[in-house]
Amino acid sequence: MNFLKVIRQAHRLLAVGLGVFILLHLTVHLTALGGPQMHNQSLKIVQWIYRNPIVEPLLVLAIIGQAATGLKMLVRKWQMPNKGLWSWAQIVSGLMLAWFIIQHASAALISRHVIGLDTNFYWVAGPLQNETLRIVFLPYYFLLAFGVFLHIGAFAYFKNKRDQKIAVAIVAIGAVVSTTIVATFSGVFFPITIPPEYSRAYDALATGNLPDL
Ligand code: HEM
Repeated sequence: MNFLKVIRQAHRLLAVGLGVFILLHLTVHLTALGGPQMHNQSLKIVQWIYRNPIVEPLLVLAIIGQAATGLKMLVRKWQMPNKGLWSWAQIVSGLMLAWFIIQHASAALISRHVIGLDTNFYWVAGPLQNETLRIVFLPYYFLLAFGVFLHIGAFAYFKNKRDQKIAVAIVAIGAVVSTTIVATFSGVFFPITIPPEYSRAYDALATGNLPDL
């Protein structure tokens, strides 16, 4: 078996494991439609699975491995001539995910272990209620979730011998799910009051006044 084949198999294997986490993760975020309390309760129900000294490091390693194997394949894809729309979708979503997921998981871990802010409903909604941070976090949250569906959609397109039906359905579901999550945490469906410890932290981030946290 050649090196690239091993990399591809590793990428697919890790994707299955991470896929279970992502499905659980995004399902929990959809429960925020029932309000902050429901979201925080749903998080508590699933946290025992990954918030422990065994699964959490494995999850972080899986993300790094997924990004590294993905970037290796991306270089090859990039060099291919006549790239069509789905090839570009795979490249762009892959690059986006590699950066955003590592950034997002690090932010969650730093927030909990270094800053001492729990990663709950208000951790997500806080920057969306801040006038300055909203400009960055709104597209960031959307692309973080939508990127997963776009990437899986592109995979489905090539797997199904370039038949677009399933791929388009996956991307359409992704657009609905991502928009719903971002709208919910932005306060479109109910008013959101951010607790002072979260608004203080995000105000500090927005003004670059981090040492005052
Ligand atoms: C808009 C979409 C998303 C939102 C609002 C969101 C929100 C959150 C929240 C609230 C946490 C803290 C969880 C906890 O403390 O139990 C978290 C952690 C995390 N999220 Fe996301 N997430 C999103 C998308 C994603 C995606 C697509 C991935 C892909 C893998 C992902 C990966 C992670 C990881 C690895 C952690 C750290 C888990 C840990 O070790 O504690 N998230 N996210």
